[in-house]
Amino acid sequence: MKVCIIGTGYVGLVTGACLAELGNTVICVDNDEKKIEMLERGQVPIYEPGLEEILRNCHAKDRIRYTTSIAEGVKASEIVFIAVSTPARPDGSADLTAVAAVAREVAENLDGYKIVVDKSTVPVKTGEKVAETIRRYSAESVEFDVVSNPEFLREGSAIYDTFHPDRIVIGTASEKAARALTDLYQPLDAPVIITDINSAEIIKHASNSFLATKISFANALSRICEKAGANVEEVTRGMGLDKRIGTQFLNAGIGYGGSCFPKDVSAFVKISEELGYDFRLLKEVERINREQIDFFFEKIKQTLWILEGKQLGILGLAFKPNTDDMRNAPSLVLIDRLLKEGASIKAYDPQSMDKAREELEGIQYCSDPYQAAEGSEALIILTEWNEFKEMDLQRIKGLLHHPIVIDGRNIYDPARMRELGFTYQSVGRF
Ligand code: UGA
Repeated sequence: MKVCIIGTGYVGLVTGACLAELGNTVICVDNDEKKIEMLERGQVPIYEPGLEEILRNCHAKDRIRYTTSIAEGVKASEIVFIAVSTPARPDGSADLTAVAAVAREVAENLDGYKIVVDKSTVPVKTGEKVAETIRRYSAESVEFDVVSNPEFLREGSAIYDTFHPDRIVIGTASEKAARALTDLYQPLDAPVIITDINSAEIIKHASNSFLATKISFANALSRICEKAGANVEEVTRGMGLDKRIGTQFLNAGIGYGGSCFPKDVSAFVKISEELGYDFRLLKEVERINREQIDFFFEKIKQTLWILEGKQLGILGLAFKPNTDDMRNAPSLVLIDRLLKEGASIKAYDPQSMDKAREELEGIQYCSDPYQAAEGSEALIILTEWNEFKEMDLQRIKGLLHHPIVIDGRNIYDPARMRELGFTYQSVGRF
């Protein structure tokens, strides 16, 4: 099939790459000329394992091309995906300016029946607005259908998630559009849910909010476990083996971040409010998340007391491993607070330091974890990269000024750390 993807962020670029890899002809559109030039040169603007290879392979086979022109993309395609960002406004609601502008430009360039698919995460009822917009700005005789097809891929494992989805959600009132999308995704062999647009849009917000709720639940448990002398990992494992609960997304730590959960939970709270429902459960999820980083900061202060003039080594800046993404990374909040207390910071992250430099000034960026540890009063773990799990801890101990590790991601076994002679603090464990 001929597919156009508008927006080359994580979702758009990965979707475009994977659809091209499945044999479709894909045209990716972005209004950022620099990004399009980079992609044409074979460079990938984001770090996502496996993405560069797929793009290179599909480009060589002429299955994917790039343009800044929506008109060109729409005219060349049967299915047009909207995958532009929907950032949070200061009041927490989703900013749909880009979706609206794209819908209008798509409408102005419709030259025959097309299926317009919304892949951006949007509040319920956006599909209706997109359809209204397209009707308003397109030629009267032209036919089109609108579909909501939310995306569930995770950064860092986006390619795997796209090829092995747990489910594919297709929200539309049109049987013809539902059939076309089912055919498009047929090679993936995943359960397909065909539903109305509003339900599809809610499925996305509800899924992310529920996962965030699991994380906040685990973080609340970590607080109780610390007070009770219990181990949160044992507790969540014991709970999670009940298949009705499940073991995933129950890792306590320093709270969720990234470009999705914080934005989507607050957008869901906001849209619920607009619909006349006060989603207090989710407000509490957000509060627990904010508190978790305060609690970790206090843990550092309790361990090290006065921070003024102390050098701290930080391992991990990205909001999670296998990505270079710094959006809403808990490290940003924590490092800001440590700097305000007068600490000096030596930091290392395997992928995100270029992006971190744009946001975090006044810290020293290191070339490996050992350099971050050298001469530091303590080592603080903020992202659970495998590289940190596999470090030579004896060497780290020798490099640190004091053998103190404060671990926000529970990556080491507390008993082993004690055996090695570390003062070791983690989250919800003893
Ligand atoms: C999330 C969802 O998992 C995807 O299904 C969804 O498609 C995506 O948002 C989106 O809406 O685009 P992502 O933000 O890439 O994906 O990352 P996650 O792996 O979900 O992690 C989110 C945050 O939760 C990270 O800060 C991570 O450290 C934290 N987390 C995750 C925990 O603190 N504990 C856990 O047990 C799991």
